[in-house]
Amino acid sequence: MRHLLSPLDFSVEELDTLLNLASDIEANPEKYAHACEGKKLATLFYEPSTRTRLSHEAAMLNLGGSVMGFASEDSSSASKGESVADTIRVISCYADICAMRHPKEGAPMVACMHSSIPVINAGDGGHQHPTQTLTDLMTIRSLKGRLDHMTIGLCGDLKFGRTVHSLIHALVRYPGIRFVLISPEELRLPDYIRHDVLDMNDIPYKEVVRLEDALPELDILYMTRVQKERFFNEEDYVRMKDFYILDKEKMAMAPEEMYVLHPLPRVNEIAVEVDDDPRAAYFRQVQYGVYVRMALILTLLDIHVD
Ligand code: CP
Repeated sequence: MRHLLSPLDFSVEELDTLLNLASDIEANPEKYAHACEGKKLATLFYEPSTRTRLSHEAAMLNLGGSVMGFASEDSSSASKGESVADTIRVISCYADICAMRHPKEGAPMVACMHSSIPVINAGDGGHQHPTQTLTDLMTIRSLKGRLDHMTIGLCGDLKFGRTVHSLIHALVRYPGIRFVLISPEELRLPDYIRHDVLDMNDIPYKEVVRLEDALPELDILYMTRVQKERFFNEEDYVRMKDFYILDKEKMAMAPEEMYVLHPLPRVNEIAVEVDDDPRAAYFRQVQYGVYVRMALILTLLDIHVD
């Protein structure tokens, strides 16, 4: 039985296979419409979500399966003190696969240790968000035709942004990847990723504070919101929250082929006026998220469609 806790749980070859499957699903959705008939997905969300929970559910429904779950800790017996270990033992009796989001880093790992069904990490604290990474990889590959030889700008909350952490882990395995890390001093990428992932793999990167200084050299700009829920005090959040605002004026400094991605939700970091720019790819990214999660569910359930 396989789980997905980190993007590194799949080799580059396995990722290629999964992304190819997602592209085939995009091209031939009817072929997969009954692939998961009789199967059930449980979504166990201890933290708020719109995209990740509903895209997993849409993915399972598109495959002909069924869904169940809870959308907050308050509406589950976790509010009465039930542990993740006990909850997953129970869910294993009800469902064939589950997706779990939890505010504590490592909670999906604990779930795996007690689960008899595949567990998908749907985001654990400030740690990892591997299904967002699969979405991001499919988006980049679809837009640019490749995942190698690119300069990727990561902008915003690089300290707490788990989507950024997962994406870096995944992309360093492709040749010719270079990063520009764009953040205020207080929200720099944590040392354990800068040193242990970038430096250890000899990945070229530079750190800048001003978005304007990075824009002209980027193939992809990955914007992120400041993660309000991970700040210890409101004052620091308010000081940081509008540090970056990508608007039309800044987009004019970017190359014609530079696509803008964002895991969403957006707060103020991308002005609404940018949405009409053909390089704004964040809503297309949402659609890719459904195809890639369909491919993931099929892969983890070991279901093959001829
Ligand atoms: N991208 C993402 O994780 O969005 P949600 O928090 O809405 O799931």
